[in-house]
Amino acid sequence: MGGGNTIIRIKQGQLWQVGDDLYLCGDHENQDLNILLDHITEPIDMIYSDPPWNAGNCRYWRTIAHRHTGEIETHDVNFNWFWDILRGHIKTIQPRVCWIEMSVQEHTNVIEYLEGYAPPYAGKWTVCYGSPKRPNILLRFSSEKHISNDPTGLSGESVTEWAFNQSDSLQSQNVLDFCIGLGMTSRFAYKFDKTCYGMELNPTRLEKTIEWISKKTGLKPELLKE
Ligand SMILES: C[S@@+](CC[C@H](N)C(=O)[O-])C[C@H]1O[C@@H](n2cnc3c(N)ncnc32)[C@H](O)[C@@H]1O
Repeated sequence: MGGGNTIIRIKQGQLWQVGDDLYLCGDHENQDLNILLDHITEPIDMIYSDPPWNAGNCRYWRTIAHRHTGEIETHDVNFNWFWDILRGHIKTIQPRVCWIEMSVQEHTNVIEYLEGYAPPYAGKWTVCYGSPKRPNILLRFSSEKHISNDPTGLSGESVTEWAFNQSDSLQSQNVLDFCIGLGMTSRFAYKFDKTCYGMELNPTRLEKTIEWISKKTGLKPELLKE
């Protein structure tokens, strides 16, 4: 049977496969990304992610996940510690290019924080998170500095599409998003014929990502690990 209208119910800790794509419902605070990385056999050459933007935003996403499932605990999060975990993964993965969407307020800290952990810092652009009233920053870490077209002022999915169209992204086959949410990265990985690996705290959000990719590809999601 194909994917089609498959409705799945996801629980924390589960790892799902759709074609070559892998999706884990996990929590960075528990170092769960290691479970996903243990199942990936190909090199990850690109990261594209829009992680929480500060400690309050980390807490906010936990509260949303708690409301959706009742399972996830809401608590204060130390943002530096959260980034310690993410940057450790980036250092291990050694991608060709790492794209991070970050808030105007926090982005300089993230540039500093990733020095020596990610490829060299290669530029930042002010883009918009949905509405032009909500500016945010797209950061690029890569040995490639050249850009085709200036993305300044782009909004929503055009930002991700622009990043996927840059030469370092075009050379990459396997993309990781460590906070994949409703699956913007997954959609562009599909459009650009790449394999996508993603992790997400909130099962309800991850369900939507998996249902979308399953419908698009016609492939049934398979549960790899409970
Ligand atoms: C700004 S949203 C990402 C939006 C995403 N680009 C999309 O297409 O929906 C940040 C995501 O990080 C997830 N998140 C927050 N804390 C997390 C954690 N500790 N572990 C894993 N994911 C987390 C949230 O649930 C949320 O879906």
